Amino acid sequence: MMRALLILLLVIQSVAILTVAKHFDFFYFVQQWPGSYCDSRRGCCYPKTGKPAEDFSIHGLWPNYADGSYPSNCDSSNPFDDSKVSNLESVLEEQWPTLACPSGNGLKFWRHEWEKHGTCAESVFDEQGYFESALSLKKKANLLHALENAGIRPVDGKFYTMVEMKDAITKAVGFAPFIECNVDSSGYHQLYQVYQCVNASGSDFIECPVFPHGRPCGNKVEFPSFSSASSRDEL
Ligand SMILES: *[C@@H]1O[C@H](CO)[C@@H](O)[C@H](O)[C@H]1NC(C)=O
Repeated sequence: MMRALLILLLVIQSVAILTVAKHFDFFYFVQQWPGSYCDSRRGCCYPKTGKPAEDFSIHGLWPNYADGSYPSNCDSSNPFDDSKVSNLESVLEEQWPTLACPSGNGLKFWRHEWEKHGTCAESVFDEQGYFESALSLKKKANLLHALENAGIRPVDGKFYTMVEMKDAITKAVGFAPFIECNVDSSGYHQLYQVYQCVNASGSDFIECPVFPHGRPCGNKVEFPSFSSASSRDEL
């Protein structure tokens, strides 16, 4: 009886320690290629602030567990407050634009990312810190530059292999990314999103503990131009 009680106490104690110490293990930092977002059956709508530049844009910074699962919507008492990012708004419009339809100004997108993912990393940063960390990771990754250095440019009708795209980013950043593709209106696979792993402080890229599950891209991948893309409003 005494022994059973002791074991129970030990179990409770170790579970308590685990839950306090391990809110999550690492982050996925996810960027999207606007040319591929728009060149799909769903299409896109440019933000109210205008067509974004031809560059990768931020999708989100997502806390994740090493087993591949992830926490979400962790604190409903800490909803998105746009006054906390008012000093970042013009940079977010540039680097983290919304392409969803109907056209928006980005607030809805940022609200979703903070409330679903950001609130699960409150032990690391507040709302402003969450957005600032993502902006600084984007600068650090400089994906477009990494690809262009390897001769991989956004051009319609030109194909690259998955391996050369992955290698270009690995060489520049030091760690292999996960690349997700979508399909354009002609059925070709194209570079859609790039996942990079970041340590639990949200500051440094690391080797991915686990890659997301996703359909493989195939070996012929397009990197479509965004400057020649059109939004749904223009079609
Ligand atoms: C993340 O990396 C930074 C820089 O190397 C380091 O200071 C920090 O302790 C790391 N955080 C974690 C949780 O590993």
